[in-house]
Amino acid sequence: MERILDWNKYLDTAAKMVSEGIVMLKNENNALPLDADKEVAVFGRIQFHYYKSGTGSGGMVNVTKVVNILDGLIDNGIKVNEKLLDTYRKWDKENPFDLGEGWGGEPWSQKEMPLDEGLVKETAKSCETAIVIIGRTAGEEQDNRLEAGSYLLSDDEIAMLTVVRENFKKVVLLLNVGNIIDMTVINRIAPDSVLYVWQGGMTGGKGTADVLTGKVSPSGKLPDTIAYKASDYPSDANFGREKNRDIYAEDIYVGYRYFETFAKEKVLYPFGFGLSYTEFEIKTEKTEITEGAVKLSVSVKNIGSYKGKEVIEVYCEAPQGRLGKAARVLCGLEKTRELVPQEEQVVEIAVDIAKLASYDDSGVTGNKSCYVLEAGEYKFYVGSDVRSAEYACSFEQGEDLVTERLTQSLAPVESFERIKPVCEGGAFSIGREAVPVSEVDESARRLEKLPKEIAYTGDKGIKLWDVKNGKNTMDEFIAQLSDYDLSCIIRGEGMGSPRVTAGTASAFGGVSENLNGFGIPAGCCSDGPSGMRLDCGTKAFSLPNGTMIASSFNKELTSELFTFMGLEMAANKVDCLLGPGMNIHRHPLNGRNFEYFSEDPFLTGKMASAELKGMAGAGVTGTIKHFCANNRETNRHFIDSVVSERALREIYLKGFEIAVKEGGASSVMTTYGRVNGLWTAGNFDLNTVILREEWGFKGFTMTDWWANINVRGKEPDKTDLAAMARAQNDVYMVCPDGEKNDDNTLAALENGGIERCELQRNAANICGFLLHTNALKRAEGIGDTVKVINREDEEQEDDKPVQFYKVDRDITLDLSDVDTKKGTSYSFALDLSNFGIYRVIVTASSTQSELAQIPMTLFSMGTAVGTFTFNGTGGKAVSMEKETPMFSRFTTFRIYFAQNGLDLHSIRFELTDKER
Ligand code: BGC
Repeated sequence: MERILDWNKYLDTAAKMVSEGIVMLKNENNALPLDADKEVAVFGRIQFHYYKSGTGSGGMVNVTKVVNILDGLIDNGIKVNEKLLDTYRKWDKENPFDLGEGWGGEPWSQKEMPLDEGLVKETAKSCETAIVIIGRTAGEEQDNRLEAGSYLLSDDEIAMLTVVRENFKKVVLLLNVGNIIDMTVINRIAPDSVLYVWQGGMTGGKGTADVLTGKVSPSGKLPDTIAYKASDYPSDANFGREKNRDIYAEDIYVGYRYFETFAKEKVLYPFGFGLSYTEFEIKTEKTEITEGAVKLSVSVKNIGSYKGKEVIEVYCEAPQGRLGKAARVLCGLEKTRELVPQEEQVVEIAVDIAKLASYDDSGVTGNKSCYVLEAGEYKFYVGSDVRSAEYACSFEQGEDLVTERLTQSLAPVESFERIKPVCEGGAFSIGREAVPVSEVDESARRLEKLPKEIAYTGDKGIKLWDVKNGKNTMDEFIAQLSDYDLSCIIRGEGMGSPRVTAGTASAFGGVSENLNGFGIPAGCCSDGPSGMRLDCGTKAFSLPNGTMIASSFNKELTSELFTFMGLEMAANKVDCLLGPGMNIHRHPLNGRNFEYFSEDPFLTGKMASAELKGMAGAGVTGTIKHFCANNRETNRHFIDSVVSERALREIYLKGFEIAVKEGGASSVMTTYGRVNGLWTAGNFDLNTVILREEWGFKGFTMTDWWANINVRGKEPDKTDLAAMARAQNDVYMVCPDGEKNDDNTLAALENGGIERCELQRNAANICGFLLHTNALKRAEGIGDTVKVINREDEEQEDDKPVQFYKVDRDITLDLSDVDTKKGTSYSFALDLSNFGIYRVIVTASSTQSELAQIPMTLFSMGTAVGTFTFNGTGGKAVSMEKETPMFSRFTTFRIYFAQNGLDLHSIRFELTDKER
């Protein structure tokens, strides 16, 4: 079958997502939409350097072009003040954008052009409106900081905003950020309009301009509460305070759950808030309370003078009972179609009553380890943000009802105090209670649940597709795998494994010759939440980030967008996207918030499910990550998240549960760190009891890349794949070679550290997943094809197969034939025998003037090693060198030529004896 991926439609849908995800917080003085007949002044260098996403695996998508906000405005027919633009262009050229160097080494903001007041005054004479753009990136390995240029505005940004405010009649501030930033100074300076335009991927500038010009009315809603100060967030007392541990003392009171219960006055903009160019009247017309559901019919009428969409949010206020509850919990959401003035739509929302139950981790209700719908009144509020939502209806629960009986799992092993509301005179204050600790014997639990061993048969000629075609059972198939095969199949190979699409994160399943012989294909995983990261330089589509998608509150549009993503993956022979990222925005300083959706697990689960449903159409899927409680980047490989079982189940696991049960998730990635003392990569309760037994998950699980694994109480050991496999975390990501590795699996089989039946079970999980992939169809010779149409960069030279070079300790590659034309890239890959710090020596010449600057940037696995800037050399060969760590057997490189005029001769890699 041939499917069509229409690139134009993909671009249009992504731009729509951007315009629906933008959150307008303020719009006074008729500042927006822009008047098409009037010239505007655009301030801020980010007008040329739109942040399409954050950095790291959630953003390293190579694109042909990013549409900046400036491009978007000009394409929309807006006249932009030329003199100011030229001044910025010149300064930007003289002060090049700082790419930074190395993984996690990018600066998160850029130097801003100091403004000359004379120029501002002069520009204000011809322009009524100024648009100021402020940008931030974010990424892995580091958190935001309470510092200028990070969570706070820099002095130059403050100066820019101040002088523009003083001189312009109308000021529009656009925040091109992945995550909320401090609003104190912004409020003081008081621009007329403030919009979180987030990071909208490669077509972000178009979607943004569509909102600014009024083509689309903004309809995005805040997926997080914006409090006055970072210290107002309930997790602040513990976030990042200890190097190796974060105590989740705020418990279930995360984000608006805390603010609406205890501290309404600390909120600047409530969860769910966002303005439109028009206004809506929201009325709950009908409510019906049946046994299992509350059904609400809500009419939404556009009573303003613009077209627009509105979001309807339903919140529940559960009785305090003995467990204590948040004053509001989101339990329903829908978005209207675009309504013209005076048009009305009735939106139907059904709330599943069982899902309103709370988890009793202490036994205070008499039902320990159960979800309990405590007796009392359940009230429902309907509106377009948590604060203004109005009472709609309620029902009385006569007595406590157990909706699910579970077993204690993943509970803390050390007690600490958590928040619990104390109610006096109708108001809540913060009380504390001790968190119950685990009573589970984890080793005994594993042994009780050991699967049955399948007798080894050796090769019976059964291929994996015979299982798919109903000819043989999975057990018959697995029976053929030897211990050695079982030890290989739990290894993911990468990064950049030559078994799968070049430049991707890993191959899994068929990672040895034997395994391939059984018809097990190598499945392919590629980062990440905002599009495919193809480190060899292949261009891909870069999507709006997770926070922006969540802000759209539009499940249908999300599915539509990810239908395209799915087709693009299929076209590139990628089976699993390493996303969506689903961790909860617990604190605004977390460095990876931009990849994740929200502070709310319901919204998170619904949006992730929508993404998965979209991808499924093309026979591919996403990997929900990071499972679970990956809420801080600093020291992420070691941090222990100490969380109550209730908070885990109601907040940190809930989104994943929704994605498994409603979104059909079939691929999961655990985290780098620990939850309650145990690294998640080897956590049986997490990977087996909760994920599979309770939620009915049927897919396969993987570790994060080179993650730590441990046995309770012991130090982490990356070679302890037996501990990982026992927990039923199926695949270790990543090993340099699927055939051989220094892990302990075979030895553990000998000494009783793992049972064969456990490895067989993991193998069946992996093969079970592969049964439904395009990879298996290809292995069987019945693969579908995807034809990409309307893609301008279709004829990419990068699509040529990437050449791998074997390296023992050093190698010199002759690059004299490489085309070094401005804007082109050249990719190659190394297959290393030795890991360590390598010296990279580039030799080139140029006949250009001595003052010419001819930069070429070298990227290793998508990350900038550095820029080698040559001058004219009078035609003589000149060498420049840098150092780069190489710890992955297959390392892909890309050289990007930013200027014409370089004659490249060679590149040499030499292993140094330096320690990392
Ligand atoms: C990230 C993952 C990512 C993986 C592969 C890790 O650094 O935490 O989210 O998918 O790398 O690139």
